[in-house]
Formats: sequence, C-alpha cells, structure tokens
Amino acid sequence: MLPDTDRREALDIASTITKALSEESGRDLSESVRVKSLEAARKLHDTLEKPGDGILKVAFTPVLWMCIRTCLELNVFRMLENNDAVSAEEIAKANGADEVLIRRLLRILTALGYVAEKGNGLYGATKWSSHLGQRTTEGTVRFDFFAPSAIEAPKWFKKTGYQLPTDPAKGLVQATHGFDEPTFTWLTRPEAKEVWDNANTFFEADRGSSPSWVSWFPVQEKLLDGYNKDLPVLVDVAGGRGHDVVEFCNKFPDVEGRLILQDQRPVLDSSVADLPATVEKYPINFFEEAPVKGSRIYFTKYILHDWHDDTCLQILKNVSSAMTKGYSYLVINDMILPEENCSLFPALWDMTLFMVLSAQERTASQWKSLLTAAGLVIEGMYPPPGDGLGIIIATLA
Ligand SMILES: C[S@@+](CC[C@H](N)C(=O)[O-])C[C@H]1O[C@@H](n2cnc3c(N)ncnc32)[C@H](O)[C@@H]1O
Repeated sequence: MLPDTDRREALDIASTITKALSEESGRDLSESVRVKSLEAARKLHDTLEKPGDGILKVAFTPVLWMCIRTCLELNVFRMLENNDAVSAEEIAKANGADEVLIRRLLRILTALGYVAEKGNGLYGATKWSSHLGQRTTEGTVRFDFFAPSAIEAPKWFKKTGYQLPTDPAKGLVQATHGFDEPTFTWLTRPEAKEVWDNANTFFEADRGSSPSWVSWFPVQEKLLDGYNKDLPVLVDVAGGRGHDVVEFCNKFPDVEGRLILQDQRPVLDSSVADLPATVEKYPINFFEEAPVKGSRIYFTKYILHDWHDDTCLQILKNVSSAMTKGYSYLVINDMILPEENCSLFPALWDMTLFMVLSAQERTASQWKSLLTAAGLVIEGMYPPPGDGLGIIIATLA
C-alpha cells in the first residue's frame, strides 16, 4: 500500500517526464532533457519504492557487480552478441561451469534487464549486454581493484578520525592493498600490470555517455580562430591512449600545426587507438618541466581531478610555464560540481576519486581558488549539456 500523497507525487513526476519528453519529439533527445528526465525517473522510482526494499537493494549492490563480473569472465556477453540465442547449458559447457550457477547468475541479469529471456531456457542480447561485450566496457568492469576499499572505508574512517587524506601516498586504497606510494606510481609496477592495463582501457571508455567536448564546445570560435599553424596547436597533457586526440582530429581534420599526445611512455606504447599519422606521441612526466612550448591549446581531461590541490599546483606550474601569454589556452575538461543538488553520477565520481587517489571532483568555487593560486585567469567555465564534464578555459595572468 502506498499513501495517497505518494501516489499523487508519483503522478506529478510522471507527467513532468511525459511533458519534457514530448516537447522534444521529432528529433533526438538532447543530453540535458535526457539527464533531467532520468533524474525525475529516479525520483519516481524512489516514490514508489518502499524504503525497506530500497535499502536492502543497496546492501545487495555488490551481488550485482559479482554477477556482471563473473558473466564477463565467462564470456557470456560476447556469446550473446554473436548468437541469436544462447542456453545456460551452452554457456556452462563452453566454460566447464555448473549450469545451475549460470542460471542463477543470469536470473539476476535478466531481472535487471541486462540480458533478455527468449523462452525455452534461451537468453538473448540487449543494449546492455552488447555494451558489456565491448573491449572498453570490459576494462571498466575489470578495473575494480578499489572495490574492497568501499567495504574497508567505514573502519578506516573511524581509525583516521574521519579526515580526508592530503598525501596521495597515504589514502584508503593504500591501506586496503598495503602499498605506500601514490596510486599512479604503484600502477606502473610490474605486480600491478593487469590492474594498470584495465585502468587504461577504463580511461578509454570512461567518458560514459558524456559527449566529447568537441561536439558541444565552440572550439573553432573560442580557440582555433587566429591560431598560428607554425606552432603546436594542441597538446593533450596526459591524454592516455589518445582517444581525445582522435576525437579532436575527427572533428577538425583540416587543422594544421602539431598535434601532440603526451603521457607516460608505457601508456603511449600501449595505445590501441587508431591515431592519425599527424599525431606525435610525446612521453612526459608532468611533475617536470613541460617540454612542448607555446601551443595554442594545452588540454587536460581527468587529470587535475586525480590529485590534491598541492599536487595540482605543481602540474599547473609546469603546464603554465610552457604557455605563451596572450596566445595559449589551458583547457580543463573535468566536472564542475554544482554547490547544491548535484546529481548522483558526478557525486559517485567524487567519492570514487577519494577512494582510489585521495582526490576529488571540484565545484566552480574550488576550481576558481585552485586556478587563481596557480596564477591563472579563468576566461570562462562552461557547463556541459547533461551531467558530464565541463570546460574551463584559463590563460596566463
Ligand atoms: C585518469 S587518466 C586520464 C587520461 C586521459 N586524459 C583521459 O581523459 O582519458 C590519468 C592519466 O595521467 C597519466 N599520468 C599519471 N601520472 C603522470 C605523470 N607523472 N606524468 C604524465 N602522465 C601521468 C596516466 O598515465 C593517465 O593516462
């Protein structure tokens, strides 16, 4: 039974969603309406759900992850993608697994809607299983070395007096796994090879559904008009395997001038992205002097959110020392959290960064104080459509 007030609230939310979705009929749903409607749908769900059931589901969340990860290791999602229908028996046989186990794992995934039931004990693909069968999504699911830290956190907080760590070598993930250096240093050790490989694949995928900045930010008008083609045009500082440079090249195939992908050498060497021939790979350590001077754009995505303010200041000092006053732009592609009413996805990113890197997402005022302390002037902060990564443009003072 649901009180009448809740029933009426549910009806109100449902009609808000219907209205928002109808207004955009006849064209693709915009990112901002999609995210707003999704947020409203979550409220609708919460209105109809009994708190007792909701809390139990949260407590059971690790079970969902267990089923997804196990089915991924059993190659279930790829099997579903490559066949019209697959039986539990076939999956079990292909893996030497217990058929009953397969059925029980799939019962959860079909209840979630991630796998379709096709009758007669057969299973089929959905948009979710297709996504789970992609190489980059597999990396995302397998990049789970920090998951035990979530269970450890309440004990660790009690022990450390509920403080936020400021030393990147002494955070929660170090306490959970027993190492004592910054996560990014540990990740390049031989014993972390598998985790690091999954992390890099995760970085390739982790845009989630957030659209690339080049699809919505006026790059041409704000940054490219008036650039000097005899100088570097774009330096992607710690650009991982190069996925963002590829997006840039696809959007601006005729741009002239050097396009430079920087990262640690092993990351550049592991690049599987189809890099255009015009892109130079340039190994760097961003804690040292930036080697490529005078570029029009220094682009950083998901970099400053990896570090505490003190460390960000070192990185920013190095990048800004390569910039030319009155010409170069620092482009930060990161979340700009609202001070209030933050949606769940960015808030989850924020606490995940705390767990893995003793780091954080930042609000507009936090970005402002960080960049001001680095001696930079903010030209503008541009929120994204929806709830993805924003753009902050900064120049030398
Ligand atoms: C979260 S990933 C972001 C990668 C890419 N910008 C993206 O958005 O997918 C952080 C990147 O920083 C790089 N990195 C970490 N420490 C570094 C260092 N000292 N010098 C250069 N790159 C570093 C990592 O190798 C990794 O590619």
